Amino acid sequence: MTDFLDFVDLCERQLRLSGVHEGERVAIVSKGDERLDYADAFMAAARRLGAPTYHVRLPGGSGAGGSLASLQVGATPLSGNPAATEALKQSDLLIDLVFLLFSAEQMDIQATGTRILSVVEPVEVLREMFPVPGQKERIDHGVELLRRASELRVTSPFGTDVTYRLNTFPVVPEYGFNDRPGEWDHWPSGFLFTGGDEDGVDGTVVIAPGDIVFPFNAYVRTPITLTVEHGRIVDVRGELDALLLREYMASFGDPDAYGISHIGWGMHERARRTSLAVDFKGIGMEARATYGNVLFSTGPNGELGGSNHTACHVDVPLHGCSLLLDGEPVIVDGDIVVPEMKAAQ
Ligand SMILES: [Fe+2]
Repeated sequence: MTDFLDFVDLCERQLRLSGVHEGERVAIVSKGDERLDYADAFMAAARRLGAPTYHVRLPGGSGAGGSLASLQVGATPLSGNPAATEALKQSDLLIDLVFLLFSAEQMDIQATGTRILSVVEPVEVLREMFPVPGQKERIDHGVELLRRASELRVTSPFGTDVTYRLNTFPVVPEYGFNDRPGEWDHWPSGFLFTGGDEDGVDGTVVIAPGDIVFPFNAYVRTPITLTVEHGRIVDVRGELDALLLREYMASFGDPDAYGISHIGWGMHERARRTSLAVDFKGIGMEARATYGNVLFSTGPNGELGGSNHTACHVDVPLHGCSLLLDGEPVIVDGDIVVPEMKAAQ
């Protein structure tokens, strides 16, 4: 009981940070028997703040898509359920316990002005990676730099040298809370991203030993060399890890699986790259948001407004890289070098 009340307290802090006030409608969406305790905690927290709240529970089971285990995205239990979707559109803040990311229904809900906060990680991770004071301001500085840039380049001692032309897509911050109408965020987070022009990503990405491939949820032990031309992966070369990645991508039978998705960097100073080695927790936001990493990804860019809606999405936090915007260094050898973006040590 004490644990539950502690979690209600944490959810209340989250709702306050997300701008919930008396009279705002807070909806919760869940699937099957997953995270029902989260739904109860958020409803209790919303009631403390005088916010009317309700919970839409969708059927679970396999075949519903949106699987967190593989982090396949796109189809969700909301697909083909317009009545449930309509109910969620009536809210000001939607707590998403399903992980609706990249789904058409999420876009529809946001278009009505509803803001969405996805919450799927274990409670310990939510607590440990609760937004840090000042972090939003540091992320916002990065957002400004990225918005102004027309070229993003990533290099590494392992052989990565890839360039993204940036003329098309918005820059998306993830603060770990959400007080912005019509926007999406994810607790926990602490990074930012954009996307390269669909035909504007070229070069080589070397996924080095110690980097992580999601959804494998494993550290790479042998280098994987990806050749990217005009925004498409044209070659995946290496030993065992490359073989696995090549087979995984091919299993979708979808040419769009070879597209390039978001690119950005982590800024959460409490996130540990080693989290996966110590203990597998949730979907790995810690490893994605690790301070100074570069988060490279492949597959869909629909969330940014692009045309690629493939279900094959691979996230790869790259360590030890340098990242330059229009030739100006932002990260050097895995460390953020822009003073306004540096975390207090
Ligand atoms: Fe991703």
